Amino acid sequence: MNILITGAGRGIGLELAAFYAKRHQVIATVRNPRHGEALGALRVQVQHLELTQHQSILDLAKTLGDTPLDLIIHNAGVLHAESDLDEVDAFNFAHSIQVNSLGPLLLTQALLPNLLATPTRKLVFISSMMGSMGDNGSGGYYSYRASKAALNAVAKSLAVDLAGDGIKVGLYHPGWVQTDMGGPRALIDTQSCVAGLTARIQELDAAHSGRFLNYDGKPLPW
Ligand SMILES: NC(=O)c1ccc[n+]([C@@H]2O[C@H](COP(=O)([O-])OP(=O)(O)OC[C@H]3O[C@@H](n4cnc5c(N)ncnc54)[C@H](OP(=O)(O)O)[C@@H]3O)[C@@H](O)[C@H]2O)c1
Repeated sequence: MNILITGAGRGIGLELAAFYAKRHQVIATVRNPRHGEALGALRVQVQHLELTQHQSILDLAKTLGDTPLDLIIHNAGVLHAESDLDEVDAFNFAHSIQVNSLGPLLLTQALLPNLLATPTRKLVFISSMMGSMGDNGSGGYYSYRASKAALNAVAKSLAVDLAGDGIKVGLYHPGWVQTDMGGPRALIDTQSCVAGLTARIQELDAAHSGRFLNYDGKPLPW
């Protein structure tokens, strides 16, 4: 299989790349080559992608040409730590939407022919419980919550619109994971996270498509 993983230079993306590189052809995207150093130890193809720039998305699609992609994992994400109302910042809000919701949608649009060129046709989005309305009992984190809620809406619409093409859409919360974003107090390490996510991706079929699931398979409230 050919697998494209965004934000693969560190954190959950790097662990996903390490897992799949042992079994498949992996195209790992980084926005800064310096951040891709850890990928050097893996048998992966590294490509540049800056999700805030539409041209970067189009350039990646051009570079890939007609390479078939069995699985695209939209993993890259950003969290601006504005937990209180008085910390809300217009740039951070727009930036979060660009990286966490609009970028994945535009990348899907650009790479749809590559996905359709395989029988596997799996499209995966790494979202967050923070994008859930039903689970939001603590408030705050305006830009991150809003951008992940928007990502959930994007993924759901894609699941509906692309079902006729046999494309299956996975939408997962990866757990609270020990990464730069999750911090050292997080509950699980990247290996446990990726063991769960890859099991979800393996079982992803038409019946699972468009559902919002925890990394361990439990359904999550929208
Ligand atoms: N860790 C958690 O507890 C947790 C919980 C819920 C959801 N998530 C989600 O899981 C995913 C991975 O998180 P993580 O914990 O591995 O985060 P991380 O360690 O902070 O890594 C984020 C990745 O996204 C990339 N990225 C950021 N901005 C980008 C941009 N503008 N264009 C392209 N790539 C960009 C980063 O690239 P650089 O290295 O170049 O900065 C990095 O590879 C994210 O979508 C996150 O929201 C994480």
